[in-house]
Amino acid sequence: MPAFRKDLSSIGVYSPGKPIEEVMREYGVTDIVKMASNECPQEPFAEVQAAIATAAHESHRYPDTAAYNLSIDIAELHDVDPAQVWVGPGSTPILVSIALAMGGPGTSAVFSDQSFIMYTIATAYAGAEPIRVPIGSDLRMDVDGLAAAVRPDTTVLYLCNPNNPTGTHIDSAAVRRLVDNVPRDVLIVVDEAYEEYLTAPDHTSAIRLAVERDNVVVTRTFSKVYGLAGLRIGYVIGATETIGELRRLQVPFATTNVGLAAAREALRHRDLVADRVKTNAAGRNELAAGLRALGVDCGDSQANFVLMGPVAEAAALAEKLLHVGVIVRPFGDHIRVTVGSAAENARFLAALEQLL
Ligand SMILES: Cc1ncc(COP(=O)(O)O)c(C=O)c1O
Repeated sequence: MPAFRKDLSSIGVYSPGKPIEEVMREYGVTDIVKMASNECPQEPFAEVQAAIATAAHESHRYPDTAAYNLSIDIAELHDVDPAQVWVGPGSTPILVSIALAMGGPGTSAVFSDQSFIMYTIATAYAGAEPIRVPIGSDLRMDVDGLAAAVRPDTTVLYLCNPNNPTGTHIDSAAVRRLVDNVPRDVLIVVDEAYEEYLTAPDHTSAIRLAVERDNVVVTRTFSKVYGLAGLRIGYVIGATETIGELRRLQVPFATTNVGLAAAREALRHRDLVADRVKTNAAGRNELAAGLRALGVDCGDSQANFVLMGPVAEAAALAEKLLHVGVIVRPFGDHIRVTVGSAAENARFLAALEQLL
């Protein structure tokens, strides 16, 4: 055997939501709704599909590893400088690069104990120590607890806003308080993968904070509201010097010409994005109301999913839903359900009613 690094076997492996084909094979069902991976239930916009087809002709060329044009478009959208934007192949690899840039043995990373699993995994990749802060009883992250958990060896703190898997959000004043209460040598990563879906009036993106303070960055993705999860484009925004340092760990040519072109075109359709946000909020309300009518609680979600529970034997219930072709994701004694189309939401609620 090769001499693998000593802690390799302790590194958790990311477990994705079950793919549709796998459920078809394993459960013998053909009509499947996937509400497990917080994807967009709609296809990419028609104009984006056309841009994808055109860009496919350039597939014999390497992509622009600097994502020059897309960075300019993103910078315009958020009113920042293109040098404050780093585009990568989804926000997951960017989070990993950030963890590697900040971590290493003898350092620690702070995050909520019920948050995006990649913070745990990326911290392990970096050989750093995770410090997990218990989530509040209302499934809301404990902002002051996160700040208080920072130790002298802490180099990075992750705040997922809105949070996956709870769906809850932290208001802008509390985010600013967190930033004010954490030492300037700790990088605060505000993961805004679901930010576009937020409809709460007490929220604004942390992007302004990120360009003002060199120890705050915001990650974003085209995988959710833009419906481009399969094309892998995400980005991070921060102070120019901070982005420059983080980019030392950028894997070259990791995006694709098709993904870059699709993302550029997607940004040209703010009206369609706004429609999706409205549709999502309606679906989220439908799911929450349907669950409560069945006597099942769910947190106050601001994302494109709801976290139902606590329910008895959540994993077994999720498994029973698989048998009737509904893919959802159990988390302990809760189940996370991605907002689907109106028909998918209704099908999930009907299946759940039968099973309860
Ligand atoms: C909180 C959070 N951040 C980041 C991501 C990753 O998105 P991407 O597709 O950009 O890697 C996800 C995906 O589910 C997520 O839930």
